[in-house]
Amino acid sequence: MQVKSAVLREIGASVPYEESQPIKIETLELDSPEKDEVLIQIKAASLCHSDLSVMNGSRPRPVPMALGHEAAGVVVDIGQEVTDLEPGDHVVCVFVPSCGQCGPCREGRPALCERGAAANTAGTLLGGGQRLHKESETINHHLGVSAFSEYAVVSRNSIIKISKDIPFEKAALFGCAVITGVGAVVNTASIKLGSTVAVVGLGGVGLSALLGAIAAGASRIVAVDINETKLKQAKELGATDVFNSKDPNVIEQIRQATGGGLDYAFETAGAVPAMEVAYGITKRGGTTVTTGLPHPEHQFSFPYVSLTAEERTLKGSYLGSCVPSRDIPRYMNLFQEDRLPVDKLITDFITLDEVNKGFDILAKGESSRIIIKF
Ligand SMILES: NC(=O)c1ccc[n+]([C@@H]2O[C@H](COP(=O)([O-])OP(=O)(O)OC[C@H]3O[C@@H](n4cnc5c(N)ncnc54)[C@H](O)[C@@H]3O)[C@@H](O)[C@H]2O)c1
Ligand SMILES: [Zn+2]
Ligand SMILES: [Zn+2]
Repeated sequence: MQVKSAVLREIGASVPYEESQPIKIETLELDSPEKDEVLIQIKAASLCHSDLSVMNGSRPRPVPMALGHEAAGVVVDIGQEVTDLEPGDHVVCVFVPSCGQCGPCREGRPALCERGAAANTAGTLLGGGQRLHKESETINHHLGVSAFSEYAVVSRNSIIKISKDIPFEKAALFGCAVITGVGAVVNTASIKLGSTVAVVGLGGVGLSALLGAIAAGASRIVAVDINETKLKQAKELGATDVFNSKDPNVIEQIRQATGGGLDYAFETAGAVPAMEVAYGITKRGGTTVTTGLPHPEHQFSFPYVSLTAEERTLKGSYLGSCVPSRDIPRYMNLFQEDRLPVDKLITDFITLDEVNKGFDILAKGESSRIIIKF
């Protein structure tokens, strides 16, 4: 079938993208789903910093690539081996497909699936196939999804069936921002009731971490960003203290305000200066967690002795250390009970044709989540 898709043709284009237009809206040929694949109609997709990182070269990926990975939609057709989904089911896309058979999958850590990671790096679906073409040219998939498209063919293991009573634009957030931010707090860090928390970088992932920390019973939540709009939004969502990390003394100020730092600090900006702040404001015996995906050459350094003499912990968190089939329904239940109001993260709606402009807005750090509605 023919579909309209957003195809990244050039990495490292000049900004603003609204002028350089590195993403072209093109009509592509989409193959039918193979045996363990599913054809979905995308109903809503959101813009994530990880898409932007492919555009600006921080996450090197093969082009041309049909971008987008945070999305929700409806099942239209299923491959012969798919037995647990049917046309009409609502689904959320997850940006790491898991094979269920490799070492990490067997250990219950599907976020680290080896085949999923290899397929994502290569720009293929989990089984190695590519279903998007333009005449003789094959278009790479983004994170097994390629969601900025009217329809997508994905591996069965890239989607989670959800309840039909959550609107698509809200459901979309759960496949990346929410699972990553909330999961970092409750899975990777497993914060304790009453503990103190900082979140550095208040985009879709950081604000989800903030809401996760509230839901998990943090007592004090310090929100940090370089953008005043974000600090205001964090305060509205329940942050107890906000700090602008453009201030060169921010680490000292936060340490002083919190009596020596926080139990947990989450770095959710994907930037070395944010990581330095997060490590600097974690207290003795505390834990620093990062979800950041910076350029592979970026290095972060810290005083080696602090790990030992202060019993500090430094952890990375990918896909919120989640088991998506377990965690997405849990987080959606909390959302429906008003205990995880992630819909407040949605700040803008755009059309597919406005996607380049949408990434200009995201890059400026002015929005939380920008949704493309189909
Ligand atoms: N670990 C994972 O599984 C996973 C999943 C999704 C996204 N990510 C990564 O997480 C990061 C955040 O993603 P997002 O979509 O929420 O990004 P975003 O662009 O929506 O938000 C980033 C925020 O960080 C702020 N920021 C930038 N530099 C800062 C600094 N020095 N100090 C404080 N704040 C700063 C920006 O103003 C912005 O508010 C990115 O690196 C992204 O690639 C990781
Ligand atoms: Zn994402
Ligand atoms: Zn696996």
